[in-house]
Amino acid sequence: MKIRRAVIPVAGKGTRFLPATKQTPKEMIPIINLPMIHYVVEEAILSGIEQVIFITSSGKHAIEDYFDRNFELEDFLIKNGKIKELELIQKIGKMVEVTSIRQKEQLGLGHAVLMAKDLVGNEPFAVILGDEIVRGPHPVTKQLIEVAKKNNGANVIGVMEIDPMETYKYGVVKGEFNPGSKKTMRMSTMVEKPKPADAPSNLATPGRYVFRPEIFDALKVIPKGVGGEYQLTDAINLLARESEVYAHIFDGERFDTGNIEGYLNATIEFALMDKDSEAMMRRLIKEKVEKYKIK
Ligand code: G1P
Repeated sequence: MKIRRAVIPVAGKGTRFLPATKQTPKEMIPIINLPMIHYVVEEAILSGIEQVIFITSSGKHAIEDYFDRNFELEDFLIKNGKIKELELIQKIGKMVEVTSIRQKEQLGLGHAVLMAKDLVGNEPFAVILGDEIVRGPHPVTKQLIEVAKKNNGANVIGVMEIDPMETYKYGVVKGEFNPGSKKTMRMSTMVEKPKPADAPSNLATPGRYVFRPEIFDALKVIPKGVGGEYQLTDAINLLARESEVYAHIFDGERFDTGNIEGYLNATIEFALMDKDSEAMMRRLIKEKVEKYKIK
């Protein structure tokens, strides 16, 4: 079983990041010097993905341009002897094959994924949400692909433990752990954004999935769900009735970079994890702690 394609929905308006997102797609906001979407596409590539399918909307062409070649800039860098920068830019332009589809109306995540049906074809594929970054010892999508392989090519959803009071932000799963496993469960149902009192567990997805193509049949028939949107969660529930869906607790830390707190958190953490910026960030934090008398 080979998973060659990843669908990355990036059509959202990014309202939590206005006014920065008035003209710039939220996925292009940088964490240090890489746009958020770079980290997400890098995860896809490190997971063996060969083609990325962006589901876009108006005003999002900067994302496609970022992963394209920019010969004018390359010429400029050559003429100015900026070889290191040139190599960096060329590498990004050659990173992965990119295709995009416009979602003319934002009718929900389920609707966004369905837009990719013809491009994905009759093959299993991954879905990776564009405003969540997961970092860890192994790329999370790769972990899910491995679980799918071990379970005869089943559907797999990446889940993490969350604060039980925050279930209303996520799709939350219910299931039973596979015999002898503390990480992989056979999922029976999934609830979209339940109130804490109604949540079936504290295991939620940050938007990492591996699907068999049958998900498209389910996406075609679901009615509008929570928030009046076509929910991917509802299609997963339909799928779980007829085929196997597993939820896997992945190794790694999730950064919800779609809001200001998550963004600041990721910026500090990524700077501390990067050998080029670690010393700088440590010094800056130390200075701020002293200057503002942070305890
Ligand atoms: C979507 C999904 C939800 C998932 C979440 C992760 O919701 O519908 O199941 O847990 O992404 O961020 P959204 O955040 O787009 O409302």
